[in-house]
Amino acid sequence: FKFAVIKFNNVFLLAIKKPQMKFGRILFHFYKPENYISMYHQEGSDTLYVGGQAMIYVLTFTREGVRDLKIPAASDQTAIDTCKAKAAPLELECDNFITIIQKVNDTMIVCGTNAGSPRCWMLVNETVLTDIQGNGQIASASDISPAYPSQRSISLPADGSLYSAMSSVAGHAGSIRRTFGSQKLLKTENVWLLNPQFAGAAIIPSSQKYKEEIYFFFSEINKTARVDEEPYRARIGRICMVDEGGIKALLADSWTTFMKARVMCGAGNTQQQYNNMKQAVVLTAQDRRAGVLYGLFSNAWGRTVICAYSIEDIDQAFSTSKLKGYSSPFIGSRPGMCVRKNSTTGGHNDIKNLGVIRYHPEIEDVIRPVGVAPLDLPTDDQITHTVADIVLAVNDEHYSVLYLGTEQGKVLKVLHTSEGVFIISQYSLFHNEGPILNMAIDSQKGHLYVGTAMEVQRLPLADCGRYGDTCRECILSRDPYCGWDRARRKCIAIPPGYNRRTSPREVVVQSNTSIFLPCPVRSFQATYQWEKDNCIKNYPCIFSGDFCVLGPVVDTPLKEGVFRCMATEDGFKVEVISFRLVNNGRLLAASLASTLGLSLWLAVATLWLH
Ligand SMILES: *[C@@H]1O[C@H](CO)[C@@H](O)[C@H](O)[C@H]1NC(C)=O
Ligand SMILES: *[C@@H]1O[C@H](CO)[C@@H](O)[C@H](O)[C@H]1NC(C)=O
Ligand SMILES: *[C@@H]1O[C@H](CO)[C@@H](O)[C@H](O)[C@H]1NC(C)=O
Ligand SMILES: *[C@@H]1O[C@H](CO)[C@@H](O)[C@H](O)[C@H]1NC(C)=O
Ligand SMILES: *[C@@H]1O[C@H](CO)[C@@H](O)[C@H](O)[C@H]1NC(C)=O
Repeated sequence: FKFAVIKFNNVFLLAIKKPQMKFGRILFHFYKPENYISMYHQEGSDTLYVGGQAMIYVLTFTREGVRDLKIPAASDQTAIDTCKAKAAPLELECDNFITIIQKVNDTMIVCGTNAGSPRCWMLVNETVLTDIQGNGQIASASDISPAYPSQRSISLPADGSLYSAMSSVAGHAGSIRRTFGSQKLLKTENVWLLNPQFAGAAIIPSSQKYKEEIYFFFSEINKTARVDEEPYRARIGRICMVDEGGIKALLADSWTTFMKARVMCGAGNTQQQYNNMKQAVVLTAQDRRAGVLYGLFSNAWGRTVICAYSIEDIDQAFSTSKLKGYSSPFIGSRPGMCVRKNSTTGGHNDIKNLGVIRYHPEIEDVIRPVGVAPLDLPTDDQITHTVADIVLAVNDEHYSVLYLGTEQGKVLKVLHTSEGVFIISQYSLFHNEGPILNMAIDSQKGHLYVGTAMEVQRLPLADCGRYGDTCRECILSRDPYCGWDRARRKCIAIPPGYNRRTSPREVVVQSNTSIFLPCPVRSFQATYQWEKDNCIKNYPCIFSGDFCVLGPVVDTPLKEGVFRCMATEDGFKVEVISFRLVNNGRLLAASLASTLGLSLWLAVATLWLH
């Protein structure tokens, strides 16, 4: 047994952890170290595509193990020779590192660095790399894939198009582009981005299709900053997916809806800011502009933190803020807003807006994190990669769960609610303690894929067996994927499509009112008692007319949790009625809470399964 001290809301809890079981984990070893890996995974599938050095691994995970298919993707010798002669950033990077594997419509697109002169292919029949054909348009491979694996790029398929963001390197400005598809290929103007280093991208949904946007997350570097100045600035850039570019004289092949904002991650207005955004993930509703952005940031000393942002706050800033350096009123629609294509427009107002966007794409408002500080993670581990998931727990509440990969090859599973963060569990997955390089999450199938330079592992998101054999341990784990199965007396994964047969009626409790819960008495032969949270305690009730009433007694905190009245007769126990008490005072906390419908009473201690 291991002991761990967990800090939560400034309370130190002593947690007893059982030795780790290799429960449901499946592992694949690379034949040679892969220091740069790209991943592609389609939700609901058991196959993970991993791009490595001159090799694509098609890994199919089964109960028996991993079936691996290796597709060689070497660069030609002339490209390698040229690369080495050019004295590339690192001679070791003179090979074909697979940087992008993406599915656009039904076309599987693969790109690689090809020893400094990027190339793209189609992957046909899951086995054959061929040249890209099709009636869509495609940008040059060097606009889609970096030339060296140390140069970060981001690619995002959306609506039959591919969006690509390329970080800047010596001699290249960096850009955000539409690079493939039937829509017009567009790009950013060089002056809009200052040495960008990209950290992520996400589609921001809307109830109206034409208002859909893509957010890009990046850091900008001021290379002429003085030594005592912070060179990094974290940014969000956004574009409309309906954007079709400007007019011949202005922004002809550029976005006409690009805007960017500064993102802060640090405590209030203090000097303690984390300005380098290294990675970003977004959880959103399916069809609404609501959700949360998680950004992984570092400071000048390499310390990493996570900041959370409300998508509604960001949307609000982009829709209402003043533009930097522009004070005239807007004529007609606001610049940068997504508008339906309208054949009759193209008049003076539009051209004026193009000019505003061209010269003033930055908003004045600064985006600040929820809680105006980084998440209070009780760990000093350096975080290298993040993925996130929204979980519907047994109590019908949505929780967000973060998976944080560390420099030492660990994965932390973290529950985030408006009340704070809590480390649910910690996995030391790998034999060698190399950093986690990449992760992919499959919410539908409940799998997490984790890659280091030596291995790829798949583990279940609901790893409930590790929480011991009692209801109490199961519930105290606070793992929203798990619930207590009282028939089998086991902590189990909540089955898909799980429905409670009798859902508790919700009762909102004012903080200082006393409440009484009535249980209708149907048989005087039966004994009645109330249970709270299924396993922790039973409470007697007082008969009053046709009811057995549970009222406030000394050790019955009738404040929150699920209370159910159980009748026992001839050895059979049945539920008569149940109530779920919700504390009103805390229902309206942060906007983040309403966003995700997060439970405010963290008590996962109200979960059970029949
Ligand atoms: C892919 O498979 C189909 C059907 O088996 C075959 O006709 C086609 O030639 C294959 N394509 C390539 C590029 O191998
Ligand atoms: C993707 O599919 C849609 C609908 O099936 C089609 O309209 C579009 O042209 C396709 N895009 C590409 C790039 O093939
Ligand atoms: C970069 O830093 C220098 C030195 O402080 C400053 O003069 C310059 O304006 C900065 N550049 C940008 C684009 O902010
Ligand atoms: C299209 O433009 C015309 C003229 O500016 C305007 O009257 C009309 O409302 C616009 N239609 C849409 C759908 O925006
Ligand atoms: C609840 O208690 C607070 C102080 O504790 C008091 O100000 C408030 O009026 C009370 N509300 C009700 C409904 O009694």
